[in-house]
Amino acid sequence: MTQDELKQAVARAAISHVVDGDIVGVGTGSTANFFIDELALIKHRIKGAVASSEGTAERLAAHGIEVFDLNEVTSLSVYIDGADEIDATGAMIKGGGAALTREKIVASVATKFVCIADGSKLVEVLGAFALPVEVIPMARTVVAQHLAALGGTPRLRVRDGRALLTDNGNVIIDVAGLKITDPLALEAAINAIVGVVTVGLFAQRGADVALLGTADGVRTLT
Ligand code: 5RP
Repeated sequence: MTQDELKQAVARAAISHVVDGDIVGVGTGSTANFFIDELALIKHRIKGAVASSEGTAERLAAHGIEVFDLNEVTSLSVYIDGADEIDATGAMIKGGGAALTREKIVASVATKFVCIADGSKLVEVLGAFALPVEVIPMARTVVAQHLAALGGTPRLRVRDGRALLTDNGNVIIDVAGLKITDPLALEAAINAIVGVVTVGLFAQRGADVALLGTADGVRTLT
């Protein structure tokens, strides 16, 4: 199976976690896009969705799925999203698609976080994927110094020759070389750096269920 076929398989499997009549929290990225395409097939069964990025909102709307502002919603039964890495406890690195802040906000409202990913994303120790950190632009140098002091190698994310800006108008610093043996502690430490908006470590609110695509089928971790 190709990686896209594995992503499609977990996206399809995630539909069983969608609650009829509810508003669904929807993540960002290529796996989340497959999920949106599956959600479109059952759109008559749901009230709508809350999106974790402008890109996701556009794709949902293009499928005719009503997109709600999170401020109109008090709770979500489920949030479904991909990950760049996930460990056996459900802690994740996210933000490869630069949507980490809105992803973390929408996930915080959901009763259940379902992570959908191809099996290659499951790791023993998080950190081989450079950890994304969303930062207020004027603080990027001082924040990078703090991140280097934590043992990583920070690099500003650049696209088309200039700093990539998130949907929130901030920059992303990717931190390579971290071996994250205590995700909860590192999440708290990085969130405490002045100028950091969000760190792409999802440990405090990790995945409750992970659907992982493998050649043998969809593997479920709870
Ligand atoms: C976006 C994310 C994505 O969930 C993560 O990058 C995985 O993306 P993909 O499904 O394309 O592998 O966190 O900010």
